[in-house]
Amino acid sequence: MKITVVSDTHYYSKKNGIDGKAFIQENSRSTNLIKDSQEVLEAFFEQIVEDKTNDIIIISGDVTKNGEPDSHIEFIDLLRKVKAAGKRVYVITATHDFHDSGIGHKFVGDEKVETTATTRKELWDLYYEFGPSEAIAVHEDSMSYIVQLEDGFRLFALNDDRNHEGKSGFSKNCFKWIEEQVEDAKKNNQLIIPMSHHPVLSPSPFFSLIGKGDMMGDHEIRREQFPDMGVSFMFTGHSHMHDVSYHFSKNNNIFYDITTAATVGYPALYRVVTFDKKAGTMQIESKHLEKDPDIQFNGKNFDEHLQNQFFGMIKKTIEAAATSIDEFAFAANAFSVRPKVVYRYGWIFKPVAKLLCKLKIGTVAKWTKKETGLKKADYSTIKDEKVIDYIISLIQNLYGGDAPYSPDTPHYKITMGLMSIIDSLLGVLGIKIGKILKVTENVSDLVEPLVFNSGIPDHNITLPLKATKEDIEKIIPDAKSTINKSKKGLPIIITLALLIILLIPLIPVALVALLIAYLCNKIKYADKLKEDV
Ligand SMILES: [Fe+2]
Ligand SMILES: [Fe+2]
Repeated sequence: MKITVVSDTHYYSKKNGIDGKAFIQENSRSTNLIKDSQEVLEAFFEQIVEDKTNDIIIISGDVTKNGEPDSHIEFIDLLRKVKAAGKRVYVITATHDFHDSGIGHKFVGDEKVETTATTRKELWDLYYEFGPSEAIAVHEDSMSYIVQLEDGFRLFALNDDRNHEGKSGFSKNCFKWIEEQVEDAKKNNQLIIPMSHHPVLSPSPFFSLIGKGDMMGDHEIRREQFPDMGVSFMFTGHSHMHDVSYHFSKNNNIFYDITTAATVGYPALYRVVTFDKKAGTMQIESKHLEKDPDIQFNGKNFDEHLQNQFFGMIKKTIEAAATSIDEFAFAANAFSVRPKVVYRYGWIFKPVAKLLCKLKIGTVAKWTKKETGLKKADYSTIKDEKVIDYIISLIQNLYGGDAPYSPDTPHYKITMGLMSIIDSLLGVLGIKIGKILKVTENVSDLVEPLVFNSGIPDHNITLPLKATKEDIEKIIPDAKSTINKSKKGLPIIITLALLIILLIPLIPVALVALLIAYLCNKIKYADKLKEDV
């Protein structure tokens, strides 16, 4: 049995406006393609329709950008065409698909103005033909349903947009219904194929840091309950990261969270999953768009276009901070930083940004020689790579999954060598990252997944549906780090302390220099600082 898994389509109808100042600003701070979502999704579904290996598509929520009625109407039209071409489509909606107030936004001229939005109670009827109409059981309050996909395979489409306690997840009543449905499925020897929207397991320690509130409500309880009930995996979305994570319950039952990236943002993937009940396995494949969609890329290919949408503005802002205050003011505005603030403080950031833009990997390799054991020849091919580009590639890895630098590569060694120095420094200062961030015990463990995936491969992997810890050990790569633990913390602190003592007589001079720089900046940008834009 084969299914196609799609998530976070975030369809945006062009009727809500695609020009003007306010839209350009919204677009530049979005990680997803907005204007082009229609063409991109048409191309994705065309490719899925052409794939005759399976006829089941499940979509795990956030189907529209922000619950715009026209976005729903056009997306439903697109899904109807997919159905007419012979596919079966099962949808759950999520928090981006409605506004309780019934008020949303659109773009008219240069302004973002209020307009009507789809409300939650409208969604059940809107998407009734994509799942609920075929359901063998429904939980209407949560808008969850069960479909018999084929003999022996049951889809659990579990809408987790609210748990009635102020979070996403399942209410007590809904979870009781899920338990009953699981029991019934097990009794009838059905393989349960569940999807919800919010992650049960965090796709990365970084996500735990920046998106803690974005996990499924009560996820720490659910990740124990689901595997112990006999639900050994869940297809999820929401984080827009492409990831497979696993967890063993206290009773040693496996649970996989298989989360699929958004289709309209980097890395823009979907999954094709083959279940083999006899072998007890699930084979996961990840698919890119094979044909470029019908849009203008300004000389770039689709992948570069996605990367530019996702990371272009971050890079542009840092580069502008290093070169031109005017451009910095314009770029930072995309992140809601007012131009006035940039004109006032931009001069302070300029030297830092300049340094960051100039910094090459070769320089960091020299700092980390002791920790990495690398010789010049070992990193000669990457020494001129810019650190800023590398940092952006690490953020890409966070979303794209399967970070590429195994522990034997110079990229891995240099990055982790630097993290080891930072950990040594924090250790000497008595700063306990584990207590502050509550995600990992040190900086190295936080950063490593951005460099190398030491867990289950995120893109293509065959997983045992019932796995022991030994089974998982066979799946995860056994490459180990060879970084020497840094002892530089103490020498760095002593050097810094000596420098401060030596430079004390120069403090008044430095203060006067700063005051002069501040006044020069105030005079130079007097007009801009008056503007309240
Ligand atoms: Fe989303
Ligand atoms: Fe979401």
